[in-house]
Amino acid sequence: DTKSAVRAALLAWYDERARTLPWRSPPGAAERTDPYRVWLSEVMLQQTTVPHATPYFQSFTQRWPTVNDLAAVADADLMAAWAGLGYYARARNLLACARAVASQHGGVFPDTEAGLLTLPGVGAYTAAAVAAIAFDREANVVDGNVERVVARLFAVETPVPAARPELRVLAGSLVEAHRPGDWAQALMDLGATVCRPKSPSCLICPISAWCAGYRTGEPERYPVKTKK
Ligand code: ADE
Repeated sequence: DTKSAVRAALLAWYDERARTLPWRSPPGAAERTDPYRVWLSEVMLQQTTVPHATPYFQSFTQRWPTVNDLAAVADADLMAAWAGLGYYARARNLLACARAVASQHGGVFPDTEAGLLTLPGVGAYTAAAVAAIAFDREANVVDGNVERVVARLFAVETPVPAARPELRVLAGSLVEAHRPGDWAQALMDLGATVCRPKSPSCLICPISAWCAGYRTGEPERYPVKTKK
């Protein structure tokens, strides 16, 4: 069916085109990335682009290679290292979470979405992303990139933000059961590099053959916004 064709085509694209990122395991790798690195990258990448976050990620993981190292940092040192990433509440949450993992979980991240959600500052997005990427759990990872890809693929006419629950259900119906971590990252890469907000590169898109938004001739119209 359409969904399995989309899954196969997008994963094949990811196998060839996955961006090499310092928190990522190679496509298809059985060995998953350290959950600490996945969690740190996902917190940094909320509201920040990959190119901007990458040098911060490198310096954090060099200075603090494990969650126990990060948990031991003084608040002021963490804030200084975070300077330039913005949204300082995230830095405070980061430290609270590291300390909870260190003191209440023996320095080991919970390996399920529900377990991750109990950590301070870890919301639905981060829990799903870490469960999928670090533990290959079948989690529905939905960020702005994924919402846009799904809105276009299914030509969802409901405007955002009202469409969010619908987009989430549609994204969940696509989750790839065999490689959920690669699936989540393939969708995010597609949204960031091909299915961009402006001028999407539909001619090189691996799933344009199934894309209802592409067929309308106006893929950029999705996700539909309420007229102001
Ligand atoms: N944006 C947020 N998380 C990401 C990831 N794991 N890969 C690519 N882009 C992302």
